[in-house]
Amino acid sequence: MTIYAVGQRSARIARRMGVVVALVLVLSVAGAGAQTTKPAPSNPQLASPEIERRVNALLAKMTLEEKLGQLVQYNTVGAMSATVAAGQEADLATNPEANYHLDPMQLAQTGRMGSMLNVAGGARIGTYQHAAVDKSRLHIPLLFGADVIHGYRTIYPVPLGLAASFDPALVTSLSRMAAEEATTAGIRWFYSPMVDISRDARWGRSTEGAGEDAYLGAAMARAYIRGYQGDALSKPDSVAASVKHFAAYGAAEAGREYNTTDMSESRLRQVYLPPYKAAVEAGAATIMSAFNSLNGVPMTANPYLLDTILRRQWGFDGFVVSDYTAVMELTHHGIALDAATATEKAFNSGVDVDMMSHLYDAELPALIRSGRVSMATVDESVRRVLRVKFALGLFEHPYPDQPEVTAAVPEHRPLVRQAAEESFVLLQNKAGAQGPVLPLQAGVKLALLGPLADSANEMQGAWGGAHKAADVVTLKTALEERAAATGGSLIYAQGTEILSNSDAGFQAAEAAARQADVVVMALGESSAMSGEAGSRAHLDLPGNQQQLLERIVGLGKPVVLLVFSGRPLILTWAAQHVPAILEVWFPGTEAGHALSRVLYGDVAPSGKLPMSFPQTEGQEPLYYNQLPTGRPANNADLTQPPGAKSRYISRYIDAPNAALFPFGFGLSYTTFSYSDVTLSREMVALKEARPGAAALVVATATVTNRGTRKATEVVQCYVRNRGASLEQPVRSLQGFARVTLAPGESQSVRFPLGFAELSFFDNAGKSIIEPTDYTVWIGGSSLAEKEAHFRITR
Ligand code: BGC
Repeated sequence: MTIYAVGQRSARIARRMGVVVALVLVLSVAGAGAQTTKPAPSNPQLASPEIERRVNALLAKMTLEEKLGQLVQYNTVGAMSATVAAGQEADLATNPEANYHLDPMQLAQTGRMGSMLNVAGGARIGTYQHAAVDKSRLHIPLLFGADVIHGYRTIYPVPLGLAASFDPALVTSLSRMAAEEATTAGIRWFYSPMVDISRDARWGRSTEGAGEDAYLGAAMARAYIRGYQGDALSKPDSVAASVKHFAAYGAAEAGREYNTTDMSESRLRQVYLPPYKAAVEAGAATIMSAFNSLNGVPMTANPYLLDTILRRQWGFDGFVVSDYTAVMELTHHGIALDAATATEKAFNSGVDVDMMSHLYDAELPALIRSGRVSMATVDESVRRVLRVKFALGLFEHPYPDQPEVTAAVPEHRPLVRQAAEESFVLLQNKAGAQGPVLPLQAGVKLALLGPLADSANEMQGAWGGAHKAADVVTLKTALEERAAATGGSLIYAQGTEILSNSDAGFQAAEAAARQADVVVMALGESSAMSGEAGSRAHLDLPGNQQQLLERIVGLGKPVVLLVFSGRPLILTWAAQHVPAILEVWFPGTEAGHALSRVLYGDVAPSGKLPMSFPQTEGQEPLYYNQLPTGRPANNADLTQPPGAKSRYISRYIDAPNAALFPFGFGLSYTTFSYSDVTLSREMVALKEARPGAAALVVATATVTNRGTRKATEVVQCYVRNRGASLEQPVRSLQGFARVTLAPGESQSVRFPLGFAELSFFDNAGKSIIEPTDYTVWIGGSSLAEKEAHFRITR
């Protein structure tokens, strides 16, 4: 605390002396700040003298129309009429397809389209590619992009579920696999990864990202890029990634889709930007700008984010694509009164490619003529697009060289099954008279109930790629296989639909449950309830599933609740009444096998929550790494109504503050214990804490498997910094490791904490370390208790 006081006093003196710059130098060590010039291309996957030579040679031959063609993107429906595109007519939804009057095939043949999105199937893709390569004057191949978010034909868990694995190496393998499958259809560009941090479970797109934490989000972002882009983009099975949605889309107010975001520079840099930055540093070839506005400036026309931060400070060399019709939507945001201004603002801010608005091709020629857009800016954007096409080797290999993958690949099933197993999070497993309900005993008489137990289609989750429901193994199929193999029995009754008011199936479900030793209930959301435009104000089990759950639990049989969802749901009643709860997200093609293996204990669950599960919607946005308040609720009993002494603190009067299940939490079939945390030293001189410094302090703890089964624990390291010039989170994740231990086995786990882990961003956008006190925790969740302390001294 003394350090804090000294820091404050010095700050006041320095301000009085008018030497704010000196303050930064003396009191802190700062990372890179704003740069004024654009760095030359440096991404080794995109920049080479040969690529630059070819880009420039081609550019020199192109007409204006051909150049603009590279900056427009359509799907197979083509381009809508310019008036609709400009938002000057009625709602798009009420406009029939007749408004789309530019035939995409013609655009391809005449070089007036550079890329296409979501064209289904290799044959159709091939037809358009032939049109561009064979018929257009300069034979420039099209780039085909698609929303391959968690698999192409062989589907793995939704990204939020994958994040629960805390296993970046697994994510890289899966991404590589998806790239190998999709490239056989001619898709060389994925609109993935979505790296938006989401702290609000109401936001449906939480399912597409890695959850609420920047450190985990950045680790996952790197992992996806490595997998998609491989060692060389030019390999025929590599795809260019499109990191989306830049930026801070996940902070949409009230969790409502497409809504506004507004935040301090410090929060933006510290919480929301790290995963995008990590993806850029890992070599991401493209970025998709977001639908939302940030601090009043729509992200489709935001030069501060798209140019100053992305290109000048981070050195991003790829191209930026708008989100779907987002250039046109600038008129709806109210920052452009007409189509020309929307185009001018988007383009001059750094959006290189216009997805589906039909404005760059319609409006840029006049804007160039009138000088509102410069030819040099157009050339630069075209260069960026061509660079990616050359880097992908599209000019040499415009068509796939492998037979098209049209169904789930048998050899890929073990990997997606493993991914599903690692994604499941055991939230509760209470012991009854016979011990914990899970794992199930071989030969048990099971009742399987619920609308998600046998729904192949629903196992895919949002953006299920080009999956085929017939490829999916449902839980019912897998449990039947197992019952047949082990002498157990299975009675199935659906009970209800995902969204239904009818209790017509309840009786059959109760009858099935009465005959069983253990009841497994597969409840939750449909795939379509999360993902884009999937915001929910209520986070309960949809329809009358809660009633079914209560009826079945009322029978007194041991119940295992499997929660299928694309986001945290409210499980408050279940946590009080259901002995075993497993969060299983949307597990993908091998859903049934993975579930059956975990239920029967072939493998112990190891997932940890990437988002806090609230007790009630009113707690949202809810996240573990909150900033402290002046009236913390630390020791108050928040389960009781406030008394005189406990009212004027930061709390609700009608709900607890804490999550029902916090970030990082997840049980196993064994228990793990943690030793005390030790630190390599307790004092670090500020002058050592330079940007790039790797291991200023190393924190270590030993984790031991205290049970009787082999299992994997995600060991987590959290840090808090007290006494800084800005409030710092009550703790934040700065390291994690998956550790697999045999019964009785121990392992010591080290977390090197360097500048990246110990610094924070100020409101000028600089990352700094100040002489302050640090607390480090190591444990199995964000509630880890074992702690140690060190100090950075002046
Ligand atoms: C979504 C993007 C997606 C794009 C193309 C948009 O509506 O926001 O995430 O990549 O459509 O399908």
